[in-house]
Amino acid sequence: MANVVIVGALFGDEGKGKIVDLLTESADYVVRFQGGNNAGHTVEVGEDQFILHLIPSGILHKNKICVIGNGVVINPESLIEEIKLLESRGISVGENLVISDIAHLIFPYHKVLDELREMKTGNRKIGTTKRGIGPAYADKVARMGIRLTDLMNPKVFKEKLIYNLEEKNNLLVNVYKGEPFVFDEIYGRYLEYAKSIKKYLGNVPQILNNAVKQNKNILFEGAQGTLLDVDFGTYPYVTSSNPTAGGACIGTGIAPSTIDEVIGITKAYSTRVGEGPFPTEFHGEFGDWFRKQGKEFGATTGRPRRCGWFDAVLGRYSSIINHTDSLAITKLDVLDGLDTIKICTSYKCNGDIIDFFPSDMDMLGNCVPVYEELPGWKESTRNIRSYDKLPEAAKKYISRIEELTLAPVKIVSVGAKREETIFKK
Ligand code: GDP
Ligand code: IMO
Ligand code: MG
Repeated sequence: MANVVIVGALFGDEGKGKIVDLLTESADYVVRFQGGNNAGHTVEVGEDQFILHLIPSGILHKNKICVIGNGVVINPESLIEEIKLLESRGISVGENLVISDIAHLIFPYHKVLDELREMKTGNRKIGTTKRGIGPAYADKVARMGIRLTDLMNPKVFKEKLIYNLEEKNNLLVNVYKGEPFVFDEIYGRYLEYAKSIKKYLGNVPQILNNAVKQNKNILFEGAQGTLLDVDFGTYPYVTSSNPTAGGACIGTGIAPSTIDEVIGITKAYSTRVGEGPFPTEFHGEFGDWFRKQGKEFGATTGRPRRCGWFDAVLGRYSSIINHTDSLAITKLDVLDGLDTIKICTSYKCNGDIIDFFPSDMDMLGNCVPVYEELPGWKESTRNIRSYDKLPEAAKKYISRIEELTLAPVKIVSVGAKREETIFKK
């Protein structure tokens, strides 16, 4: 398998969890490199459903090392909760989990700042998951962040927490008119978390570079998606990390030359949670019907996902940014039974036709999609396991996505379960 990066091709929730779980079979290491517990990766195993937020989806397999890299922001309370929940369901989490000691921590003030900023920005709000992700990354870049290694040293932790609380309480009370945090409460609580987490900490760059030397297979599990990338996404309606393929290096300490393959995951249509431009979004009754059909409700926050046709302009942009070697298309089964299916091939913006991703997000918000219409298929695809057996119209639809996004399709998913998968030769 070599070293493979899994990226969300569009706005997140593409089914990365399912595909990572499948590919874990051939991996030795499964590595999260960015994001935090804003992610919700669903894996269905038989009748059981697991939703992973911070821990790599590979954890459900025995004898695989799961790694959380430096690029991930860690809420220790959520981490401990997730470990306990997995253990209560018979999944062992011990030496098979390694967390980078230079990863940054999320604190309660990050969560409250995230919520307050959302409340105060009115119609410019981002629609975040309110997990404190943005404020935690902001502190990292501002060189005020507190890392796991700091937490392990009570003296250093104390100094850094005092310094941070001085600033945060000032912001919370005087700018946002909120409540201040009490040092002793956070300090005591986080030192308790430290005791539970200490055993998982490790030198991730060293571990992964040794793995590369030994020709082990590393699967990098992206969270979120390309259009939520803080640099390349629909800024400011993005998350605060780099979910694109390059993020796998920065977020773990391995070099670009060690990556062998990038697989982009996309649904057979588009969805988005939160605010921001979404040219192909369905409105009205069809949108509501489609959301139910696709069970499009968030795995982390339960929010209804906005749904729309496949946007090949964004798909092509994503293939270029990630240098996508192949695509996995999920949820093809959700399109079963439709008379016709549309693909957005370009946009009409201010009277011009464009077929690239513009940098002006207000302009993108006002673009009108130009669609190509393809025939649908009536048969159910749920029980199909070989590409040749898919309805002709479904194969044509997939070929068109391949042409427009410049990436060959390698995997087609026709249901949430492991076995509901077609590997295209
Ligand atoms: P992720 O964040 O990219 O891992 O995706 P999510 O787990 O947030 O959302 C994907 C949803 O689609 C989950 O509920 C999956 O169980 C489900 N799913 C994945 N692949 C398929 C598929 O091919 N068909 C159907 N019907 N559901 C799928
Ligand atoms: P997975 O890994 C879909 C969205 C939020 C919001 C924006 C910023 O499951 O695909 P944040 O809390 O990160 O500051 O929110 O990003 N968002 C996601 N959307 N899937 C995700 O993760 C997401 N993680 C964040 O809805 O619009
Ligand atoms: Mg998700």
